[in-house]
Amino acid sequence: MEQSDKIRVLIVDDIQETRENIRRMLQFEPRVEIIGAAKNGAEAIELATEDKPDVVIMDINMPDMDGITATEAIRKKVPFAQIVVLSVQADPSYMRRAMLAGARDFLAKPPMIDELTTAVRRAGDMAIEEKSKISVPSATVAVGGTSGGNGGYNALNGKIVVVYSPKGGTGSSMIATNLAVSLQSSTTPTILVDANLQYGDVAVMLNEQVKNNVIDLTSRVDELDPDIVREVAAEHTQSGIHVLACPLQADMAEDVTGEQFAKLLSYLTTLYAFVVVDTVSYLTDVVQSALEYSDHIVLITTQEIPSIKSCNLFLSLANASGLRDRITFVINRFDKRITITPEKISENLRLPVDFVIPFEERIVTNSINRGLPFVVEDKTYPISKLILNLADSIKNKSQESTAVLARTSTSRR
Ligand SMILES: Nc1ncnc2c1ncn2[C@@H]1O[C@H](COP(=O)(O)OP(=O)(O)OP(=O)(O)O)[C@@H](O)[C@H]1O
Ligand SMILES: [Mg+2]
Repeated sequence: MEQSDKIRVLIVDDIQETRENIRRMLQFEPRVEIIGAAKNGAEAIELATEDKPDVVIMDINMPDMDGITATEAIRKKVPFAQIVVLSVQADPSYMRRAMLAGARDFLAKPPMIDELTTAVRRAGDMAIEEKSKISVPSATVAVGGTSGGNGGYNALNGKIVVVYSPKGGTGSSMIATNLAVSLQSSTTPTILVDANLQYGDVAVMLNEQVKNNVIDLTSRVDELDPDIVREVAAEHTQSGIHVLACPLQADMAEDVTGEQFAKLLSYLTTLYAFVVVDTVSYLTDVVQSALEYSDHIVLITTQEIPSIKSCNLFLSLANASGLRDRITFVINRFDKRITITPEKISENLRLPVDFVIPFEERIVTNSINRGLPFVVEDKTYPISKLILNLADSIKNKSQESTAVLARTSTSRR
């Protein structure tokens, strides 16, 4: 057997017996070489980064870090590695999340021996092919143009911040635009993406007349490069953020699938420190993908009962799909004369309120009509300070999560 034909496999599972079973199942497959086994997500990322396996057999439910998060991290560090996920749940939403995170295959646990060997062989062939592409010398990355000043593009491990309100008209677009310009800096390049593909407001709120839009990227999502993105995304001159607007015709929204949108967001995290997504209340495939793929969700309500009720429904969904920990909860259009106080809302939803943004008709309406976010106009407005604080809190949370990842992967040294 040729050396290049060998499939180097890493096994990840928190239970030793399962690791041993998988090892046994694969021992008669001559192409497979087991290069190691990890008992948790952090260890998996570390071993994968060091030993660069072709195939990782990944458990989903592990105590410290789930297999989906580990899959995503490994795909970023070792792009040719193919991940085969094993899970007891044949739950489609898990499957979908795993696929979005870059998993190649999904098997129910415990797998049949034939099923497992076929999946590993298939994934192995794919990894070997990917590797051969990568080893062709390529100068494109180095000379790909780095006008953003962030050097190696893939170095950025950006965060996806989804601004979502389950009730329309509560200020999602207003918060998304002001938050994006607040997150933007020379070291944290930020892009604002409109996921309201039918009637998106982002471009209007920034007074941008855009020629290109989201569809120009989702339609060629498997062949993106930094130059294409730079060509399509508009630059908002007053703030420096980049903007991906919604299509010019409402019916074009149907052309975008959730998977394409997720792939686009994930690609953007290699170019930008923050990818802020404005959404619609209706859970379209695109909005669902954005939520599933997010690092942070800014959830908005007002003091009105229908809005609070919709938040409640969304929270049950968020709990079921493991999104709750990503939520920063904001009350917008706050008016202290209204008897439904933030405390009552928090109690009712059993969710701490992180920020309360006041009703400021003059400032907000003027800024929307002028197409200039109020944070750019005047940072000293109380409402601007609140949005800047929201941005800081998201920056801090992002740094913490990166630090935890770094700590867990170095603590074993
Ligand atoms: N804090 C605030 N103070 C005063 N007016 C506000 C505030 N936040 C939002 N508004 C107003 O509420 C309206 C809706 O805001 P926005 O378009 O941002 O909401 P949305 O959730 O994106 O709505 P849609 O569901 O239509 O996308 C706008 O007219 C805006 O001026
Ligand atoms: Mg909106």
